[in-house]
Amino acid sequence: MVSRNGRRALAAGAAAVLALGLTACANDSDSGSGSTGGGGGDEQIVMGFAQVGAESGWRTANTKSIQEAAEEAGIELKFSDAQQKQENQIKAIRSYIQQKVDVIAFSPVVETGWDTVLKEAQDAGIPVILTDRAVDSEDTSLYVTFLGSDFVEEGKKAGEWVVEEFGSEPTNIVELQGTTGSAPAIDRKEGFEEVLAGQSNFTVIASQTGDFTRDGGKKVMEAFLQQNPDIDLVYAHNDDMGLGAIEAIEAAGKVPGQDIKIVTVDAVKDGMQALADGKINFIVECSPLLGPQLMEITKTVLAGDSVEPRIVTEETTFTQEQAKEALPSRQY
Ligand code: AHR
Repeated sequence: MVSRNGRRALAAGAAAVLALGLTACANDSDSGSGSTGGGGGDEQIVMGFAQVGAESGWRTANTKSIQEAAEEAGIELKFSDAQQKQENQIKAIRSYIQQKVDVIAFSPVVETGWDTVLKEAQDAGIPVILTDRAVDSEDTSLYVTFLGSDFVEEGKKAGEWVVEEFGSEPTNIVELQGTTGSAPAIDRKEGFEEVLAGQSNFTVIASQTGDFTRDGGKKVMEAFLQQNPDIDLVYAHNDDMGLGAIEAIEAAGKVPGQDIKIVTVDAVKDGMQALADGKINFIVECSPLLGPQLMEITKTVLAGDSVEPRIVTEETTFTQEQAKEALPSRQY
């Protein structure tokens, strides 16, 4: 049996990872093709897209990117919002199978439990493209490719900033995790812990899910503050939870970014504004602008051409000074 990480390594090793440049992945909303036909024919391609929900600023930007890119590429989009529930996503995928769409794309709310429905799509001859989040499946033939960020790398970048910022100082860390069982929550935790491992001055004194929402981040942070008088750093798996934590910290009479430092992931506009304002200290970027690549991949797959099994988006990081410079032209 191949482990979860082993499977990922296999998939990544099976073909060179195609790193997509920032200009292509983060700034370009032009799919580069006005053609509407799939598989070489003239008929309009129909895509069923099962979205996670609308839990965060990142997700809103991701939905917009997919809807705009589909329109621009002349692809008919059937879109559903699963409200962060796996059973809703499975229902949506089954309905797309029944409707005989040409391609199914989705961002799995959690990693496990997809094999049955993905097999149903495969049996119906409908290719499946994973975007943003991975599934943890033994059978990688159930999907054509996975387009999205390297979440472990994002966690590592957050950890590296912490090590540089705090050095050998004793540091009490609280962690606001994303949705339990989701790829970004699992991987961002893993990457962060990997960097901090073996450095005894860093202690994660509390770690709990805030479900990637602002409200979740605020509530969990309120509880953390009540239980722990000496918090030095918040590591939030996304900006929204970090923004919720800021509200809780201010309500407790402390200064976010100074009394308690904050590192987050995403770099959506609200997060970048808080970074520029000095309330967040560092952000690791995760680009939601996956729409144009998704449409390109769809056309390639339906034309019968091969695509890389793993397509990684290229991302950067932001300090407070860099956020001030980037904010005026930030798209999302
Ligand atoms: O899967 C991407 C993550 O999902 C984003 O980092 C988070 O904001 C979103 O909810």
